[in-house]
This record gives sequence, structure tokens and C-alpha cells, in this order.
Amino acid sequence: MTNYRIAVFASGTGSNFQSLVDAARNGALNASVELLVCDKPAAQVVQRAQDAGVDCHLFTPKAYASREAYEAEIIEVLESKQIDLVVLAGYMRLLTSVMVERYAGRLINIHPSLLPAFTGKDAIGQALEYGVKVTGVTVHFVDGGMDTGPIIAQHPVPVQPGDTAEKISKAIHAAEQQLYPEVVSWFAQGLVQLNGRHVTINKPV
Ligand code: GAR
Repeated sequence: MTNYRIAVFASGTGSNFQSLVDAARNGALNASVELLVCDKPAAQVVQRAQDAGVDCHLFTPKAYASREAYEAEIIEVLESKQIDLVVLAGYMRLLTSVMVERYAGRLINIHPSLLPAFTGKDAIGQALEYGVKVTGVTVHFVDGGMDTGPIIAQHPVPVQPGDTAEKISKAIHAAEQQLYPEVVSWFAQGLVQLNGRHVTINKPV
């Protein structure tokens, strides 16, 4: 049994959350999913967590005086559960420096484009509108900016003439569900090294 503990932050459907739970269950994650943090108590991901027996920290942002206030509460929960890595998976809120500084080097995100292209919302729509021939998925460290942290891994997704956002979204989700559990397992095995903006994965040969 592994003792590397992750928390997943998500706001929506939770297909990435599910792929992490499934990988933990079949031993591919080298980690356990200890907590879901969700800012939308009615989101589908909450049902997934309940079905998987994963504890939930649910909150409604409007009920707090500031973002810092709800993040301070989240940090208490993360610390009480001795979380090693915070994994953002479709968490649609910007983090403040409270969270980013406390979990520096232990806080990652997945984004549906090949960063630094198409940051922020509707990355798939932005890429199609721009007319790219290749888009994809990026896993990166979270820093104070919007999708600007050091890049850990990327996976391309080709775009054919006439492709719809729905088709690309499906291909992107499939790529994410492969890539994210693999990246988390690298962290759990201590293979990820960060030097400035450069990330090295020290995979055994
Ligand atoms: C994923 O495609 C993820 O890359 C994206 O939200 C989706 C969540 O899907 N994240 C962002 O756009 C962050 N800027 P899911 O709820 O099915 O995992």
C-alpha cells in the first residue's frame, strides 16, 4: 500500500477525478485519493466521490468574506489529512497566494490546450477559433498566474478540418485520462524535479 496522499479539486463532471480514483484502485497511481474539494455542491463529481468512498470538502464561495477565507479553511482540511499533492482537475476558480504559497511545488493543474497557447476559459473553443492543426493537454505546476506555471507534461491532439468542439473535447478528455494519473504516479515515486521553469522526470531506465 502506498502512503502518498492526494487531494483533488474539481468543479464539474469529474471525469479526471474518476480516472485518478480508478488508477488508485488498480495500483497504477502509487497514491491514494484522500479528499475531493469542490466549490459546487451539486456537481456530478460529488456523486462520484461519494460512490468511491472519498471524503468531500464542499463549500459555497459566496458564503465567505473573501477567497483567502475559504482557502484558509481548505488548507486546514488538507493539513489534517496530511495531503502530499494537490491536484486541480477542472477546478474553475483562481487560487490566491495563500494556497499557491503554502503548496508551492506540490500543486498541479491540467489544462485543455498546449500551453502557453489558449490560457483561461474555453481553451478548446479558442484553439478551434484560431485554426490550429494541433492542440492538446498540459499538466503544469500552479503559480500565481493564469495557467503560467512550469510545464510538467504535454500530450498533442490533432485537429482535422471540420472538427467540432465536441469531438476535440472528447479526444482531449481521453488524453487527460491517460496523462494525469501517470503524472501523479511520477510525483508519488519522487521522480519530478523542478529547476526554475524546467521540469525533469527522472524515470528509471
Ligand atoms: C478538463 O478538460 C480540464 O482540462 C478542464 O476542465 C475539464 C474538466 O473535466 N480544465 C480547465 O479548463 C482549467 N482551466 P472533468 O470535470 O470531466 O474532469
